[in-house]
Amino acid sequence: MAYVLASWLTLLVIHGRTVSSQMIHTTTDRYAGSRALLERARQSLAGGVSSPFRAKFPVPLFLQDGEGPKVRDVDGNEYIDYTLAWGPLILGHKHPRLVAILREQAAKPHIFGAQHELEYQVAELIQSLVPCAERVVFTSSGSEAVQCALRLARAYTSRNKILKFEGYYHGWLDSVLLSHHPSAAEMGPPEHPHVVLGSQGQTPNSADNVLVARWNDLECVEKLFAEQGDFIAAVITEPVLCNSGCILPEPGYLEGLRKLTQEYGALLIFHEIIAGFRIAPGGAQAVYKVTPDLATFGKALAGGLTLSAFAGRREILEQMAEGRVAFGGTFNGNSFSLAAALATLDEISRDGGRLLQHANHTGRRLMQALAETAAEAGVPLSVTGFGAAFSLHFGPNQIHRDYRDYLLDDRESLRRFLHAMLDRGIYSLPDGRFYVSAAHGEAEVAETVQAARSVFHSQEWKAGEGKLTTDER
Ligand SMILES: Cc1ncc(COP(=O)(O)O)c(C=O)c1O
Repeated sequence: MAYVLASWLTLLVIHGRTVSSQMIHTTTDRYAGSRALLERARQSLAGGVSSPFRAKFPVPLFLQDGEGPKVRDVDGNEYIDYTLAWGPLILGHKHPRLVAILREQAAKPHIFGAQHELEYQVAELIQSLVPCAERVVFTSSGSEAVQCALRLARAYTSRNKILKFEGYYHGWLDSVLLSHHPSAAEMGPPEHPHVVLGSQGQTPNSADNVLVARWNDLECVEKLFAEQGDFIAAVITEPVLCNSGCILPEPGYLEGLRKLTQEYGALLIFHEIIAGFRIAPGGAQAVYKVTPDLATFGKALAGGLTLSAFAGRREILEQMAEGRVAFGGTFNGNSFSLAAALATLDEISRDGGRLLQHANHTGRRLMQALAETAAEAGVPLSVTGFGAAFSLHFGPNQIHRDYRDYLLDDRESLRRFLHAMLDRGIYSLPDGRFYVSAAHGEAEVAETVQAARSVFHSQEWKAGEGKLTTDER
């Protein structure tokens, strides 16, 4: 697509050569600025990115500004943003209340490393919203929150093993980066999946204290409990499998996990890093009416600032206060993040959670409209999720119960679709996930559906048919 850059103000220094781009020029590449800056960043920043997941976009964009549901790149292209920074921006970009609160906060001391009132104010708000939250602890990242929740569970039960599920991401730490996205060759038999390491450099014995089951398959979990129930400290699961296709729990499944863990004296940990403060103010545990012993939160919690947390039963969390379980963090409970969290949680919970209802309603409308648009064009697409988070699955397999179904998706079609959508101003995550914020509405739905229709009827899409593969991950 020909694209004229009339005033490209970025100053580029590439391979030691200064390129003043204040000149007027014409290019056929609408991402020329992002590509050039990535090249420059690669000279100093490993891979040019701060998280390798970000290199997986069709084009890793350099972003410059955002407002509400929209974001703009350095080339001046505007997009409807369905990445929401990988989830946190539940109120959209630059929400006026967050901007005001952060301005106010900037005039105050930035960090105390001691107690201050925002800590208990946010903790009290979480207590009032989240069913399991008798006590709350703040961390900076979701990965740390998981690490501490697992340590607490092991200490509380005096057992070592953790049962997790295939396709689940609980952060990048050695203890849990297991069977996140194993290949078909690695996964092992469905009734007894292998525990597969997620990274080179990870200590191989990380797998020793972890059991892996298929998700949405209570029989598989029952079998593992029957064999090793006396050693299992906890079962950790997202209530919705967000990182491998936004797959919903089948009726009775979460209740089944609750019952089994109670029977065997193990803890149930709901990993609500994505669903928390997104599916509903009380998280998925409020929606599905299953109360876990512990829960982890992050992403939407502070509307885009650095904050994660875990919460749960008093006697489990207070093992830390009693000094029996070690934990720390210089930036824990920092005032900027907590001020943002106080405003975000207040926004999403007032008026009966109206804003989250709106985000989920908008998301469901978009899910349905995209599925209909694909069906009209004869494109095999299924859409799974709960509205404010959902995923696209190309290919003939329409049934998604767990990671093994997700693995059958046609990833080449997904990649081509996302690239073509990006060219039309629709920015979503490279794995086909869409996050919808309270700032999105009917106008964004209409624009996105129009873009999808244009892709499905384009020559470039039709030309790619028949060259589809399923093995790219
Ligand atoms: C489901 C899930 N759990 C945990 C994490 C890790 O959180 P953090 O990146 O804050 O460490 C992520 C991050 O994307 C996630 O998606």
